[in-house]
Amino acid sequence: MHSLSQRIYKAETCFQGDTPCRRRHGFCAFIFFPHPKAIHQPMTTAPAVVDNREDPVKPMVIDVIHGPNLNMLGRREPEIYGTTTLADIDRELMEYGTSQGADIESFQSNTEGEIVDRIQEAFGRVSGVIINPAAYTHTSVAIRDALAMLSCPVVEIHLSNIHKREPFRHHSYISGVADGVIAGFGARGYLMALQAILEMIRK
Ligand code: DQA
Repeated sequence: MHSLSQRIYKAETCFQGDTPCRRRHGFCAFIFFPHPKAIHQPMTTAPAVVDNREDPVKPMVIDVIHGPNLNMLGRREPEIYGTTTLADIDRELMEYGTSQGADIESFQSNTEGEIVDRIQEAFGRVSGVIINPAAYTHTSVAIRDALAMLSCPVVEIHLSNIHKREPFRHHSYISGVADGVIAGFGARGYLMALQAILEMIRK
């Protein structure tokens, strides 16, 4: 019979690489009542947060994060950003996502800290992140640092071509931690971003 400390030790080391053991008959499912014959690969350190985005029993989740003022799309400088609303964009992404077996979650905030919180919540939970950080693209080290924590694909998207606009928009703090960047295709760019990220995930 295992002592309590042995059981906890075994449960903590029950990981293979970044992936938790999913054997239902083993230590993971019954942390305090392990099957005495379960065989596990010991690992030196278990990750602090389990990244289970590749768990086959969970649906693929793509988090779409919209930064400040994007809630005003459709009415906001339509000559630059077009007349499509954020709700229209989300609806199209959700329809396409469903057709591809992916759950699309959408989040918009005008506040930097809330966007950082949302990215932290995505950690280990989602298969990919599509983000338009809007004005925070050009200012936010905090959002960049949060995205740098993720191991899933990240796609940065802008409706306008930021490189063709005012010089202060030419630099993105985000691009250096994104796997891909789409800019200048208006609302259509979101669908392109979704198609691209699904392709990255499936590779
Ligand atoms: C934007 C470009 C940013 O420079 C701007 O601050 C935005 C929107 C875009 O989608 O084109 O708010 O990210």
